[in-house]
Amino acid sequence: NKGNYEHYMQKEIHEQPESLKTTMRGRLIRGGSCKAKTVLLGGLKDHFKTIRRSRRIVFIGCGTSYNAALAARPILEELSGVPVTMEIASDLLDRQGPIYREDTAVFVSQSGETADTLNALEYALENGALCVGITNTVGSAIARRTHCGVHINAGAEIGVASTKAYTSQIVVMAMLALAIGGDAISSQTRREAIIDGLFDLPNKVREVLKLDQEMKDLAKLLIAEQSLLVFGRGYNYATALEGALKVKEVALMHSEGMLAGEMKHGPLALVDENLTIIVIATRDSCFSKQQSVIQQLHARKGRLIVMCSKGDAVSACPGGFGRVIEVPQVEDCLQPVINIVPLQLLAYHLTVLRGYNVDQPRNLAKSVTTQ
Ligand code: UD1
Ligand code: F6R
Repeated sequence: NKGNYEHYMQKEIHEQPESLKTTMRGRLIRGGSCKAKTVLLGGLKDHFKTIRRSRRIVFIGCGTSYNAALAARPILEELSGVPVTMEIASDLLDRQGPIYREDTAVFVSQSGETADTLNALEYALENGALCVGITNTVGSAIARRTHCGVHINAGAEIGVASTKAYTSQIVVMAMLALAIGGDAISSQTRREAIIDGLFDLPNKVREVLKLDQEMKDLAKLLIAEQSLLVFGRGYNYATALEGALKVKEVALMHSEGMLAGEMKHGPLALVDENLTIIVIATRDSCFSKQQSVIQQLHARKGRLIVMCSKGDAVSACPGGFGRVIEVPQVEDCLQPVINIVPLQLLAYHLTVLRGYNVDQPRNLAKSVTTQ
C-alpha cells in the first residue's frame, strides 16, 4: 500500500523517521540522572563475551547492505576495541578468503535471502566462526542459519532500491558498537552523546526530508548529465558509494562514489567544466581536508555541488561557487544517516524526470537469489 505516495521508493524514503523509531524501539535506554544510558540487543546478549574476545569482526554483505556496514565501520572500530574488516560476499567466495574460528562474522542483508551472502555464511559456518545476522526479514534464510543476530525492524521494503533499510542497518550497527563497547569509563561521554543523538535522529531525518523540493529542482538541472561523481571520506565514504549506487540503479545514470583521499591518485584527471561532482563536506574531523578537495576541484573548473552542515555554506564553498545542500548536523558517526537522505531524494526525482521505472529498475530483482 503506497498510501498518498506515487511510488514505494518515495514512500520508503519519507517514512524513515518512523522506520528508525521502530528500529530503536525497546533497544535504547535513557535512564534518570543516576541511571546509565545503555543499549539492549536481545538477540546478542548471550554472545557479547565471545564477540569482545574475537580476533576480529568481519562484516559481509552486498550492495547497499555492504555500504551500511562501511558507514558504521569507523564507530565499530572506535568503540569495540576489536579490528573490523569488510568483505563483499562474492569477493570473499571468489578468493576463498581467510575466515577463522576466532572471528565474528556479521552478515548484513535486508532480504536475508541474497545468494552470495548466504553462500558466504555457509562458508563461514564451515570455518567455525561465530556467525551473526543483521536482517530485516524474520524467518529468512540468513536469520535462520546465523547463530544469533538483530532484526532491523524497518518494516517491509518493496522498492527495489534499498532506502529505509540502509538507514536502519546503520543505526543497528551503531547500537552494536555501543553494546560491544560495554561500559568502558574512557568512552562514557562519547557513548552517551551517541545515544542522545540516536534518540533525536528521527527528528533530524524529518528535518532533512524538507529538502525534497530542493532536490527535485537539482534533479531538473542534472536530468541530461552523462555522469555524476560523488566524493566522500571518513564517516561519509559510504555515503558517496551509496548515493552513487542509488543514482545508477534507479535513474540509470552513470555515477561513481569515490574516496576523496584517492582523488589525486587518478580521478582528478577526469575533472573539467563538463563534470558534475557532489562533495560531502559535513562537519567532522575530515572537514578541513574536504575544504582543500573542494578548492582543488574548483581550480579544475569542476561543477560542484557541496553537501555541508547547516550554516557552513561559506566555509565549505568560499566565494559562493557551486551549489550547496545544507543538512542538519548530528553526532559524526550518525551523520551518514542524514547525508544519504538528500541523495535518495535526488535519485528518486532524477528517475521520475527521466521517465524510468522507480520501483522496478530494469535488470534488477529485489532479492538476488542466484549467484
Ligand atoms: C525479540 C522479539 C520481539 C520482541 C522482543 C521482546 C522476534 C523476532 N523478536 O526481539 O518481537 O518484542 O524480543 O524482548 O521474535 N536472530 C538471528 N539472526 C538474525 C536475526 C536475529 O539468529 O539475522 C535471532 C536473535 O539472536 C534472537 C532472535 O533471532 O534470538 C530475535 O532477534 P531480534 O528480533 O533482533 O530480538 P529482540 O530485539 O530481542
Ligand atoms: C541497492 C540494492 C542492492 C541490495 C543487495 C543486497 O539498492 O537493493 O544493492 O542492497 O542486492 O541485498 P540484501 O540486503 O537483501 O542482501
